[in-house]
Amino acid sequence: MDLLSKIISATGPVKMIGKGFQSGCLVVVVLFSAVCGQMNHNKTVGCYFENWSFYRPPPVKFDISSIDTDLCTHGIYIAADIDDVSWTIFAADPWFDLDSTDCEPGYCNYNGYRRFTDLADEDFIPILALGGWPGSSAKFSAMAKDPIKRYTFVDSVIPFLKAYGFAGMEVRWEYPGQGEGSHPDDQEYLVRLMDALKERFDAEDFMLMLLVNVQANELEIGYDFPALSESVDLFSLATYDFSYYSPDRNFTGHPSPMRSRVEEQDESHPGYLQNIYDGVRQVLDLGVSPEKILLGINGEGRGFTLEDSESNGLYCPATDPIPAGPFTAIPGYWAYFEVLEAQSAEELPSLPEATPREWSIITDDCYQAPYMTNGPYWIGYEDVISVAIKANFVNFAELGGVAFTSLDSDDFKGLYSKPYPLLTQINKQLSAGNEFDPETFECGSAPAPICDIDAF
Ligand SMILES: *[C@@H]1O[C@H](CO)[C@@H](O)[C@H](O)[C@H]1NC(C)=O
Ligand SMILES: *[C@@H]1O[C@H](CO)[C@@H](O)[C@H](O)[C@H]1NC(C)=O
Ligand SMILES: *[C@@H]1O[C@H](CO)[C@@H](O)[C@H](O)[C@H]1NC(C)=O
Repeated sequence: MDLLSKIISATGPVKMIGKGFQSGCLVVVVLFSAVCGQMNHNKTVGCYFENWSFYRPPPVKFDISSIDTDLCTHGIYIAADIDDVSWTIFAADPWFDLDSTDCEPGYCNYNGYRRFTDLADEDFIPILALGGWPGSSAKFSAMAKDPIKRYTFVDSVIPFLKAYGFAGMEVRWEYPGQGEGSHPDDQEYLVRLMDALKERFDAEDFMLMLLVNVQANELEIGYDFPALSESVDLFSLATYDFSYYSPDRNFTGHPSPMRSRVEEQDESHPGYLQNIYDGVRQVLDLGVSPEKILLGINGEGRGFTLEDSESNGLYCPATDPIPAGPFTAIPGYWAYFEVLEAQSAEELPSLPEATPREWSIITDDCYQAPYMTNGPYWIGYEDVISVAIKANFVNFAELGGVAFTSLDSDDFKGLYSKPYPLLTQINKQLSAGNEFDPETFECGSAPAPICDIDAF
């Protein structure tokens, strides 16, 4: 035995040693864990991979080879879909997901599923996501409701996962009981679907995950948590969509405040319960055990175009989403690497009314998460400090871990910092075990400016 394998066998399973096991780092991890054992934690870090990042221009084109598996315990590939004729599972983007041998000539190309599951080892478990876009509710509802469709579907899942090497599935029904095509009894249909999947998954030792929408008024519509807890291994909370521009929510707001400001504690306020602490507390109160909860952290900021550049605090009137970012190209959503780029850029062609290098960055002391403004543009996002606070909250509440959406939104190339600054920080804090208690934490002495919500 060489020295390295001696240390491995002397210290038990590598998993306990941590994710720092790599390229000779192990020796250091074991002997001086404070130096190199950054990823020495037992938490889950689920990392989402989305195919559309592959189609971005360089330098931020993201392929499966861009994934740093040392920063994730689980990789979740978005996505597969439900065929509403045969009621079976299928690859949502065959051109990217499948190989030429899987399909008719010229139809499939990049073998994404298998290249992703080839990354698997005991410290990186590949999971396939099902669904995951608004409007998928109709198909989910129709399939889950009808026993024949449901069992036809569930029967198709195991061979599909096995064929491509996945070790589990995340159901991303957006959202049960809500939106076009949903059904008032979706809460019950969801339980039936998860039970049916679990029955099959147990035999394979597959993991079953569920994406949960954590909007204050929507939790109880969609989810019977005690019943779901029987089948679901991990609940991935979408705790990053508390605010974004829409015509019926046309005022600024942060997507992922840590806790409420005093104004928001009034039930009639649009920000009532719209924060991480209240969201998680509710899920816990509804009967989910903390170790089954993954706190969702999103590397994509949500932005607005202000009606008046001078009214640029929270709850200030907005006429539109922020214009599309230079790489992600979707109005309203900017990846963290685009936020960093915008902060340092000498020109801002995507934001014609902004002045380069004149960003104001503001962090409300209750929110513990920043937003930045420049002229009429306003964007709320995560940085290395705000994700540290969130990871410390995971430690404090003894949650199962973090679900990071999505790998490509971090500065994965290290164009503006070290590679993967957000995910690295999350792992570092989970390892360090530092805690953030949002309840005893006193805030309000350094509030961000706020507009009068009743005035418009
Ligand atoms: C991880 O879990 C093991 C077994 O439960 C425990 O002995 C160890 O102390 C934990 N490590 C950390 C960093 O929490
Ligand atoms: C990526 O996958 C989604 C489904 O997850 C699909 O709708 C889309 O067409 C794919 N391709 C691109 C370029 O987004
Ligand atoms: C916001 O929406 C309301 C209701 O539709 C509308 O009356 C108001 O003018 C809008 N405000 C802005 C800034 O667009």
